[in-house]
Amino acid sequence: MADEDEWNDELGSNKSQRKRRRQHREPRKSNSSEQGKDDVFARSEEDHFLSNLEAKSGAYNWMKEDRYKRMFRDIESKIQGAIGEGTYDWVDRRVFDQVFDRMTLMSLYKLMRGGVIDTLDFPIARGKEAHVFHATNIDGKTVAVKIFHTSNAVFKNLIQYIEGDRRFGGLRRRHRDLVDIWVRKEHRNLTRLARWGLNVPQPIGIHKNVLVMEYLGTKISASPKLREVKVDNPEVVFDDLLEFLAICWQKANLVHADFSPYNILWHDGGPVVIDVGQAVIKTHPKAQEFLVRDVTRLVEWAVKNGIKTTLAEAMYEVLNMNLDHVHQTALLGEEE
Ligand SMILES: Nc1ncnc2c1ncn2[C@@H]1O[C@H](COP(=O)(O)OP(=O)(O)O)[C@@H](O)[C@H]1O
Ligand SMILES: [Mg+2]
Repeated sequence: MADEDEWNDELGSNKSQRKRRRQHREPRKSNSSEQGKDDVFARSEEDHFLSNLEAKSGAYNWMKEDRYKRMFRDIESKIQGAIGEGTYDWVDRRVFDQVFDRMTLMSLYKLMRGGVIDTLDFPIARGKEAHVFHATNIDGKTVAVKIFHTSNAVFKNLIQYIEGDRRFGGLRRRHRDLVDIWVRKEHRNLTRLARWGLNVPQPIGIHKNVLVMEYLGTKISASPKLREVKVDNPEVVFDDLLEFLAICWQKANLVHADFSPYNILWHDGGPVVIDVGQAVIKTHPKAQEFLVRDVTRLVEWAVKNGIKTTLAEAMYEVLNMNLDHVHQTALLGEEE
């Protein structure tokens, strides 16, 4: 862990020091041969591209600093599967720009140092709020890594799910903190749901905007969404999901708030519910509204699959289902 301390020390040092240590590109030498001209042209194009990118996002200066250079060298080969082949200068800079900012690389670095992640292998999904990657841990086991984007626009939409949840008080926070809170919220919700024995991916690790959880899928692809599969026994699946919502509400005191066949994966012959970042506790002012919406989505799916039910019936079940047999279990290393 000595190295990690070293990183912490270095990151704590002041900015002017960092500036002084910044390295500048060597000026390009001109060359009179044709090949040389091509090279010069190619390089100037690349310089132009990179300086544009930097001017646009103010982004990459930090990568020239020694400490980050070293960190990046350490993990560059391990995130290759996620960013594309080749060295940093040649990979898909747009994905890089969107996902791997400085703090994210730091988080990955820490999770890699801890063995929670060894390699990021390939992207599973590229969403508005997060990228999800197939990854491998130090023991060779597969995990899913959800990396939340830290750009501003995304989180305006999410604030409503944080306000009113007393576990995450303090409204006026810096944007970056909001992202981190959001990820912690998803992690804690996963932990709470898993503790009640519900079918969700097991939470495995978290660092700032990076969430590591159990991977649902095969070696080559993630499990399909419930939306994409035709199930043989919709009655059983419906009962299962109704019970999921009932346990959430009555026992775990949570409402998923984005329950839909898009956020349920079909894994090992049954449904597993994902994407629980927006789930709120019962006392949230909109909890009941969200619950009705969740149950509505489930009823819509059921009706589409030939099941005779109504919103009123399903709501009654969720609120009154007898759950005396359901008990919570302790999870190792849980947060709450
Ligand atoms: N634990 C997981 N295992 C496998 N695939 C996952 C996992 N979590 C998410 N995914 C994939 O990533 C996609 C996006 O994840 P989700 O949590 O729904 O984020 P978003 O907020 O972008 O909707 C999912 O639709 C699914 O395909
Ligand atoms: Mg989703």
